[in-house]
Amino acid sequence: MREIVTRREFLSNAWKTGFVLVGVAGAVTSWDLLQPLKTTGFGGKVRAIPAEAVPEVGVIDIPAARAYLVRLNGEIVALSEKCTHLGCRVPYCPTSNQFECPCHGSDFNRAGEYRAGPAPRGMDHYPVEIDENGMIFIDTSEKIDGPPRGAETINEPVSGPSCSSGEEA
Ligand code: FES
Repeated sequence: MREIVTRREFLSNAWKTGFVLVGVAGAVTSWDLLQPLKTTGFGGKVRAIPAEAVPEVGVIDIPAARAYLVRLNGEIVALSEKCTHLGCRVPYCPTSNQFECPCHGSDFNRAGEYRAGPAPRGMDHYPVEIDENGMIFIDTSEKIDGPPRGAETINEPVSGPSCSSGEEA
């Protein structure tokens, strides 16, 4: 036997369904807003660039993280721009393919390993995460000490003139 629904019952059920849908949408929105932000500025996780955009050679400057991204033997590494001597910003010199501190002359290879000058160790680095979409996040809340002075682990000798002196390095 077919049940007959009155107009009053139909409208009542429609209103109840509408209230439930609005409640669910509100709960989902609230839940989403309460989640911690995935990215923050320097001092937290900084959204960088897609991993595929990091080249095999050279470096990528990520100013928001005050860090450089380099690819070394297929692995992506984030190097702190801050010199381990007295904290000057260390620029990358494309002609010599090394980092050269303008303050007191410390040099580091593309892996951030110590080469010359008063710096006590290689360049510090930050943990790197790559999300499910291939985006790189640099965790600037956790600085890891650079490697001690010693043998270089990459075979990339100085490739040309130094940027700081203009001389052949
Ligand atoms: S601050 Fe870089 S060598 Fe002194």
